[in-house]
Amino acid sequence: MDAFVIQGGKPLHGTVQVHGSKNAALPLMVLALLTDEPVVLHDVPDLVDIANMGRLLQTLGCTCESELGPDNRRRLRLQVDDPAPCEAHYDIVRTMRASICVLGPLLARRGQARVSMPGGCNIGDRPVDLHRRGLEALGAKIHLEEGYIVATGPGGSGGNSGVDGGKRLRGARVFLGGTFGSTVLGTANVMSAATLAEGTTVIESAACEPEIEDVARLLNRMGARISGAGTPRVVVKGVSKLHGAEHRILADRIEAGTYICAAAITKSPLTLTNCPVDTLGALLDRLRIVGVKVEPASGADNQDRLRQTVTVTAQEPLHPVHVVTQPHPGFPTDLQAQLMAMLCLARGNSFVAEKIFPDRFLHVAELSRMGAKLMRSGASVLVSGVPELIGAPVMASDLRASASLVLAGLAARGTTIINRVYHLDRGYEKMEKILQSLGAQIERVDASNL
Ligand code: EPZ
Repeated sequence: MDAFVIQGGKPLHGTVQVHGSKNAALPLMVLALLTDEPVVLHDVPDLVDIANMGRLLQTLGCTCESELGPDNRRRLRLQVDDPAPCEAHYDIVRTMRASICVLGPLLARRGQARVSMPGGCNIGDRPVDLHRRGLEALGAKIHLEEGYIVATGPGGSGGNSGVDGGKRLRGARVFLGGTFGSTVLGTANVMSAATLAEGTTVIESAACEPEIEDVARLLNRMGARISGAGTPRVVVKGVSKLHGAEHRILADRIEAGTYICAAAITKSPLTLTNCPVDTLGALLDRLRIVGVKVEPASGADNQDRLRQTVTVTAQEPLHPVHVVTQPHPGFPTDLQAQLMAMLCLARGNSFVAEKIFPDRFLHVAELSRMGAKLMRSGASVLVSGVPELIGAPVMASDLRASASLVLAGLAARGTTIINRVYHLDRGYEKMEKILQSLGAQIERVDASNL
């Protein structure tokens, strides 16, 4: 297993080009199941999760060809060549929860789906009741069988359901609010299934995340009739057929936010290109209080705020701040760990509360091993700033917790060894290479050689 070895305390300088968003790319890829024509995605990040989604789609009769474009960005061409398979097997689903997104498209098009229940993961319980409730409202019959979600459309399982079988899902009013807010992938699932339903679907309490807007953008390019995406009320007027389309994936707001925190924690000026500033309002609001400025680079004022060039500068000392994670446009849970790493070095007490995944605090014990002063009570953590962090061997536990340990390691005195970086490889393309190019001393090593 690979580990990162970081010699901390080196100032960073230079430019990071933000990649296409993982969390947009995954639900975008499955949309190819809704048509026989090719769907071409541009700016697809080169990540383990994307490769796994490609493998899953291949088992579902969808070819997935990847190539490097002239801009050195990856392009994926997806096309269904066998519309028969309907099973998303446990072996792949267990590696990636986003596999659940195939449920809606399979049901809408092929009239049936058998998708392994994803189960919980390191960041806590992750139920799928809202996905199920939403698809049932559209007329699907769903039950559990040997760990699989088995779903059939209104025509039953004898090949009579779905667009291919002649009996389509039917539009309905769907409410997707749960105890912790709406559901991002659940909204993608229901919205994509509703595009091929008969009649109109109104999704109330839909997730407002920018990735949902991106999914709707591609669906509309494919001929769907969706309005309101990005707001809590999405209206989908069903159509009988969708066609192929090309789409450039939204830039990754979480990757951008992570590198912004890297600039802040190392007190280094950095430039980010392709930065989706418009999606980062809550982070930028908190950072203003901390004393971190994110501004358009010179000449970039008029650029598209979803792909802007920005500079990041941090003041000394960093100020403490209170942060509560919330559904978009609130502060994203996927940046909570990274911000906490930075607040460990602020002067004073910060407070971090997690309202989406109350147990998403695996980084707390590891940051504490590096000298952070953290006190967790339930879903909140009191962060008492310390003058320095000290390098230590630590364990990566989930994707964003791992990123927070890298940030802490960059700022710490001495050597930090981060074990199990395969978690990072799921969501950050070539992170160590990017950090090396910025002047960080970070190496990927085989942990068995340490
Ligand atoms: C997406 O997961 C992201 N994953 C997560 O990013 C992100 O943390 C999360 O949204 C929240 O923003 C992808 O896009 C691939 P949810 P998703 O359904 O859609 C509860 C990362 O680090 N809930 O919006 O699976 C749930 O338990 C990952 O890149 C139900 O109660 O999350 C949670 O408390 C990790 N019932 C809340 O809703 C359901 O049926 C939000 O979860 C579904 C969810």
